[in-house]
Amino acid sequence: MTLEQQDKKYVLQTYARNYTNFVKGIGSTLYDESGKDYIDFASGIGVNSVGHGNEVLTSAICEQAKNIIHISNLQVIEPQAKLAQKIVELSGYDMGIFFANSGAEANEGAIKIARKYGETKFDKKRYKVITLEHSFHGRTITTVKATGQESFHTPNFSPYPDGFSYEKSIADVYGALDDETVAVLIELVQGEGGVQPFDKEEIQKLALHLKEKGILLIVDEVQTGIYRTGEFLASNLYEIEPDIITLAKGLGGGVPIGAVMTKHKDVLSTGEHGSTFGGNYLSSSAGMAVLNVLKPMYDSGAIDETLLYFSQCLQNIVKKYSNLFEKEVGLGLMRGLRVKSADIQNSIVGNSLEEGLIILKAGRNTVRFLPSITISKSEIDEGFKRFEKAIDNL
Ligand SMILES: Cc1ncc(COP(=O)(O)O)c(C=O)c1O
Repeated sequence: MTLEQQDKKYVLQTYARNYTNFVKGIGSTLYDESGKDYIDFASGIGVNSVGHGNEVLTSAICEQAKNIIHISNLQVIEPQAKLAQKIVELSGYDMGIFFANSGAEANEGAIKIARKYGETKFDKKRYKVITLEHSFHGRTITTVKATGQESFHTPNFSPYPDGFSYEKSIADVYGALDDETVAVLIELVQGEGGVQPFDKEEIQKLALHLKEKGILLIVDEVQTGIYRTGEFLASNLYEIEPDIITLAKGLGGGVPIGAVMTKHKDVLSTGEHGSTFGGNYLSSSAGMAVLNVLKPMYDSGAIDETLLYFSQCLQNIVKKYSNLFEKEVGLGLMRGLRVKSADIQNSIVGNSLEEGLIILKAGRNTVRFLPSITISKSEIDEGFKRFEKAIDNL
């Protein structure tokens, strides 16, 4: 039986999978079983923040695994407490953290905090959460409902929880707020929805308005967090102070971890939320190692240099292939190229893989780049060389 046959027979077929079998990774280069190398401009959909086989991360994981991988959240977990302190300090916000295992779970936690806030902090119960069209917040029943894309709300999984509605733009949110609205949930750069950043001033204005109204601002930083946009959090870049922030993807460098952080530390009481695995010894140690790699890079200006260089390369592509691409979009190392004709999106991604380059799609007209934060200039150069070959073969 081939690997593809084995997968198709025993794994539920929920993904439109590619069957290249990767067996090793070093930095931002992956190798398949035949030894062919691929430049990784996707980093596991924004997860491998410090690349593959990073010495600091792998040593931390191995050392921790040799001691304790997991006990339970009924005991204090030293690496978890340390990671929480580190995240809070790096964020600059006075918040408390709950650890989960994924982005969707982190968002579930955020919605639970908001619901409890709406139940207890107002005379009349508030429970409605407003999100945006083209948003993406996860695949659980509730986060699918929070996702502002109609195609995700198929009747196959109905009924969905009540209390979610979607606005076309930030400007439309104002008119949608009522005395049952408890929170507005947004990404600052819509990732899955097309790598679309929002305008900083527009977001700051909304944050101020919500604060005045006592409505919570939840920022889903599952994709934008952990230096992806150049700052530790995109909220730092936008200079706002959300009530609740969610994290996942890049935090564990590939070890599953999610986090919800809030300044409303007293909302959830003991027993009201929990997770068996969330923030265990292994994932917390991995999270700490990732931050220990990335923080010095941020301080030295190395992250800034990388994202400027990557952006420059994308601009060169847009200039050179203006017949194919409309513009460069995104922020930091969360980037995309808008294709002029949607039907070449798949061929660009497919050709790139053939040339030894892994890239992604977003929405219907964007090719997406989410390289690891530690990617080197030579890997970026090689990646774009292969990208040009892929385009030339269209
Ligand atoms: C902004 C955002 N929120 C939530 C999620 C869901 O995260 P997970 O797949 O870890 O549940 C994603 C995943 O792509 C995301 O990009």
